[in-house]
Amino acid sequence: MRKINNLNLSTSLIPQTIFESVTESASELSVDTYVIGGFVRDILLKRPSKDIDIVCVGSGIALAKTTAKKLGTKRVTTYKNFGTAMIKYEEHEVEFVGARKESYRQESRKPTVEDGTLEDDQNRRDFTINALAISLSSNNYGELIDPFDGVKDLKRKIIRTPLEPSITFSDDPLRMMRAIRFASQLNFDIDPDTFDAIINQADRIKIVSKERIIVELNKIILSKTPSYGFKLLFQCGLLKLIFPEMTDLYGVETREGKSHKDNFYHTLQVLDNISENTDDLYLRWAAILHDIAKPPTKRFNKKVGWTFHGHEDRGARMTPKIFKHLKLPLNDKMKYVQKLVRLHLRPIALVKKEITDSAVRRLLFEAGDDVDDLMTLCKADITTKNPNKVQRYLQNFKVVEQKLKDIEEQDQVRNFQPPVTGEEIMEIFNLKPSRIVGDIKNEIREAILEGTIQNDKKEALNLMYTIAKEKGLEKS
Ligand code: CTP
Repeated sequence: MRKINNLNLSTSLIPQTIFESVTESASELSVDTYVIGGFVRDILLKRPSKDIDIVCVGSGIALAKTTAKKLGTKRVTTYKNFGTAMIKYEEHEVEFVGARKESYRQESRKPTVEDGTLEDDQNRRDFTINALAISLSSNNYGELIDPFDGVKDLKRKIIRTPLEPSITFSDDPLRMMRAIRFASQLNFDIDPDTFDAIINQADRIKIVSKERIIVELNKIILSKTPSYGFKLLFQCGLLKLIFPEMTDLYGVETREGKSHKDNFYHTLQVLDNISENTDDLYLRWAAILHDIAKPPTKRFNKKVGWTFHGHEDRGARMTPKIFKHLKLPLNDKMKYVQKLVRLHLRPIALVKKEITDSAVRRLLFEAGDDVDDLMTLCKADITTKNPNKVQRYLQNFKVVEQKLKDIEEQDQVRNFQPPVTGEEIMEIFNLKPSRIVGDIKNEIREAILEGTIQNDKKEALNLMYTIAKEKGLEKS
């Protein structure tokens, strides 16, 4: 078994069986063949990768078919129009393509494509670290072909385009987002010339579909320290173009000696804080959106200074619009984020006042199973630099958490199911579906949340009869 040893690679990351079959097939078909792009970058970074891109100077489809036979797999998908083919083998997806030369037009991301050499293929790639190729041909197996010093950039931790940056970005403006996404994921710097080109061409992001933009933005959000990616997006001007509600948070206003905090940097701090405790994309989105309505609700009052009254409700109302605009899903994920935005001040409010059981019950009822995530958000929202205050707030939240636990054990309102259903009410009083049925149900629920009755069938039925009597209803 031959190994790619001259690169000192951790061989466990290399799927030997696949590579051997590709090499044999390449010999049979007499085509020079390489593994290229993200896979090479990732093995050099010792990151496991499941997607393998193979480029050959010839027909990618023919190479895929021969390789699939050797691997004994029937799972080959061919895309004749693109001249590409894909094999699934164990946990890997292997994509085959003939080396090509691409040229782009101003108004579109769709290039015209013709056959080319390996060099042509490497030239058209986005970044030096993504343009690395390793030969899989038998005559020079394992040789690294690195025309743009990509390995050096990996070591220096730099994102840089192989060609003049304005050409690379003009070919495909999505690459501006990708540059920042890779910088954020890998904790790399962006080369100054490359970054200048992003500043100059940011406006061209408008020819890129929102669906593609959000894929990159979500990857930035899921990186270890997402604030880094957001700061880059902000500095180059892309953030204002793709997500203006977020840049509206930027800035500090001072009146009569009173300033409010910069809500942009506060939000980024909350996002970094929450990212230490969760990899859930939508909980991270809740952190991004929790204060999103501060700019439109901002007021100045001589006595109290700056206020943002109702920003949680307004923010919840903004959430579906923002999701729609960014092409995020308008499903239960959106509802979840919306709920967390709406409730994000409630646990703090519980701390401030003497905690009543009914306030705790109401929060449990409204947050339901998302109450733990709400507490995670609230803790991330503590961004004061004063360590004494941090300790005090965390201690307060501990009290709230204990109270939530106690009340839930006692009353089970977290997954509230009405103890008397609408069907039962209709049957008992011989009613058709009508408003009065809803009213009775609501009154029972309110009594449980207020603590007037227990969350218990017998007590709920008793109350139902009392209410019915007041309303002049007769048992059927
Ligand atoms: N590529 C490019 N320009 C793009 C997209 C991709 O030049 N707009 C090239 C790069 O060489 C990249 C390769 O195609 O390495 C594969 O792209 P993709 O699978 O999208 O990204 P990866 O680099 O593999 O990274 P990840 O898997 O993290 O998305």
